[in-house]
Amino acid sequence: GGEADLPFPEERMLNISHRGASGYAPEHTIAAYELGVEMKGDYIEVDLQMTKDGELIAMHDETVDRTTDGTGRVGEMTLEEIKQLDAGTWFNEQYPELAKPEYAGLEVPTLREIFDHFGKSKHYYIETKSPDVYPGMEEKLVDLLEDYKLTGVNGRSSNVIIQSFSQESLLKMDEINPDIPLVQLISRPDQEGTSGLDEIAEYAIGVGPSFNRIKQMENGANYIRQVREKGLLIHPYTINTEEDMRLALEWGVTGVFTNYPDRFRQVLKEH
Ligand code: G3P
Ligand code: CA
Repeated sequence: GGEADLPFPEERMLNISHRGASGYAPEHTIAAYELGVEMKGDYIEVDLQMTKDGELIAMHDETVDRTTDGTGRVGEMTLEEIKQLDAGTWFNEQYPELAKPEYAGLEVPTLREIFDHFGKSKHYYIETKSPDVYPGMEEKLVDLLEDYKLTGVNGRSSNVIIQSFSQESLLKMDEINPDIPLVQLISRPDQEGTSGLDEIAEYAIGVGPSFNRIKQMENGANYIRQVREKGLLIHPYTINTEEDMRLALEWGVTGVFTNYPDRFRQVLKEH
């Protein structure tokens, strides 16, 4: 759906738990997502990869190396192989001050398991990662969303937002089911500026630009203003310090991806 059915009231500021509350718990585990919900994040952010046998799983990288005790490409592993991995111990080792015994041995969740665990009342902000590596990913995703009745006729009744850096992937989503709200991620807003915004507004409800890159622009506030003038929402990633959170609010963002949803909640209270 495009700007005609802009779904969210302007005053609704979205607090998006990036990879779950991943500043406190191992990213993309049920534990990290639960913490995000506890900290009153509005959306659980989920990055998607797809296994060799076609199961959608929550993981940021194309390989399991960084966030599990295994090695190899997700696309060359079966779900059964993925399920044997430990997705928490790496975090305990890397962040001893945040380590918890219950993080050891956590599994990589499938998208289906995430929906089963958190149910229909929660909100999911799902990214198709590397869609070029995983043909058929969008169809699988839409099937699953329809199975779980997570799509609505517009953003207001939909419990999901789909995001991607890949315009092709978003256009595919739009073609399969035009009612799912889409957000175009932008890694280089400083290079692209506002040139493509009209085109984006035809299929997406908003953009998710890199906040670091916005800060590198001559006039980041102006960029954000222009995005809003096109009727697009703007959810920059990834904003983790209070200072940047305040700056983003001052510049008029409509939501933020953050590893610290509790911190953003607090900043919002004081704002
Ligand atoms: O999806 C927003 C942000 O997460 C994009 O960057 O690499 O963390 O998925 P990445
Ligand atoms: Ca992401």
